[in-house]
Amino acid sequence: MKCLDEVSACELKGKRVLVRSDFNLPLDAKGEVADMFRLKQGWKTIQYLSERGARVIIVSHIGRDPEETIEPVARAMKQFGSVVFIPDLVGAPAQNATAVMRDGEIVLLENLRRDARETENEESFTKGLASLAELYVDDAFAAAHRAHASIVGVPKFLPHYAGLLMRDEVREIDVARAPESPSFAILGGAKFETKAPLIKLLLEKYDQLFIVGALADDVFKARGFPVGRSLISKELPDASILENPHFLAPIDVTVESTDGQARVKKPEEVVADDKIVDIGPDSVASVASFIAESKFILWSGPTGMYENGYIHYTQAIAELISKSPAKKVIGGGDTIAAIEESGVPQENLGFLSTGGGAMLEYLLKGTLPGIEALM
Ligand code: 3PG
Ligand code: MG
Repeated sequence: MKCLDEVSACELKGKRVLVRSDFNLPLDAKGEVADMFRLKQGWKTIQYLSERGARVIIVSHIGRDPEETIEPVARAMKQFGSVVFIPDLVGAPAQNATAVMRDGEIVLLENLRRDARETENEESFTKGLASLAELYVDDAFAAAHRAHASIVGVPKFLPHYAGLLMRDEVREIDVARAPESPSFAILGGAKFETKAPLIKLLLEKYDQLFIVGALADDVFKARGFPVGRSLISKELPDASILENPHFLAPIDVTVESTDGQARVKKPEEVVADDKIVDIGPDSVASVASFIAESKFILWSGPTGMYENGYIHYTQAIAELISKSPAKKVIGGGDTIAAIEESGVPQENLGFLSTGGGAMLEYLLKGTLPGIEALM
């Protein structure tokens, strides 16, 4: 995989560069961008190109609704630089607007998923996108697990490079695939059946794996504890996980009863009325020394239902991690949003990945379709 920083500045000047970013950003009730994290992280590639006189044509998807517009992202970009929004993808408006760009200018095209041919990886659409530019830069690590036209198709038709964020994501998560010992991994989320292969891999590679979030409910259920109204997966962990010497589960839980009251209990004390919503204080204490003494920490997935206000123990874990001298890689799904919500400063939290599903898949496989396409 060649990175953009291997291209000389004179080769970039005046060139039309198609940048595939992942600016799939959450919107608030008013339809404005609610979280800038991916935009902030992805902007360094845009700025790098623009400063070298490239004509920067950004494409991204947003959401999964084929009607959705990415215009709110164009408005959010105004904080970073001057961007022209072109409400088109491969038609005459996009062709005309990109043909008359000046050096350093930045445009954002419409949501890629407004055209069904994007997810179908359809060739006429791929060629339409490629025809807008002379170079292709893929900076969309968070979407690199999708074999879509803008990700795996376009690089067949243009000289292709990884963007600066793509480079950093791959470099940092490669380190997390071969962590220095003592190492500590925390994995949350739901749907055990989709995470089982990663859990098994992390048990091999890490000295300790601590399971949190809804995955921990599956552990309690598999151990024969009552789980009340908690979220339980279709499949449950087997003895190869539960009895693995590297495996750790919470030793206490926060439950919410039907009257909305929250209490901390031992897993065996959960009753039919309870819903497990987070871990508890003893669980945090039980992993504190691992966090303090590790050389490497991987964290993916909040400890509980932070979106319902159960942020306290995610915050406690984030604080412990921020004080640890370990190298850290954090990401996956809602983790960054939960950390932002917790208010723990991000400076001491190591590398924060923009990837959700892409990060977990890269951890498991060490590659992704979008990365293969750049080879
Ligand atoms: C993400 O947010 O995980 C990526 O942007 C991919 O989005 P998708 O799951 O809708 O393909
Ligand atoms: Mg190639």
